[in-house]
Amino acid sequence: MSRRTRKNDARTAGKPAPCAVTVCRGCCCGTAKIPGVDHAAQLARLRRAVGDAGTVRVSTCLDACEQANVMVVQPSAEGRAAGGRPVWLGLANDGDVAEDVAAWIAAGGPGLADPPGVLDLYAFSPSRRVRQGLHD
Ligand code: FES
Repeated sequence: MSRRTRKNDARTAGKPAPCAVTVCRGCCCGTAKIPGVDHAAQLARLRRAVGDAGTVRVSTCLDACEQANVMVVQPSAEGRAAGGRPVWLGLANDGDVAEDVAAWIAAGGPGLADPPGVLDLYAFSPSRRVRQGLHD
C-alpha cells in the first residue's frame, strides 16, 4: 500500500467514499509521447485543486493509449447510488482540465452534478473490456 493511499484512507475513514480521479501514467500518458504537457505539473495541479473533496490516484496504463492523457472521474458512494458512473476523459492535455475536474468534484461529481460543459469535449466511452480493467 502506498503512502498516498494510507493518507487518503485516514482522511476518509468513517466517511462515505468520495469521488476519485484516476490519472493514467503508463506507457503513453504522462510521458514524452504526449509533448507540450508538463505532466508532473498537471498531476500536482489536479491534486491541489481536488484537495480534500476527493482522492487522486495514479494508475498504470488503462489500455486507451490513443486517448492519452487519460483520466477517469469516479463517482462518490452517494453519486453512484444516484446513478453516477465513471466518466472517462481522453486527450486531457489542456492546463485547465485539472480545475474543471476539481470543480465538478466539489459540486458532487458524477451522479450528483453536471460536469462543466468543457469536460464534454474530453469524454469518451472505452470498450467494456477496458472499463472492467479499471475495476479489477
Ligand atoms: S498509458 Fe494511459 S491509456 Fe495507456
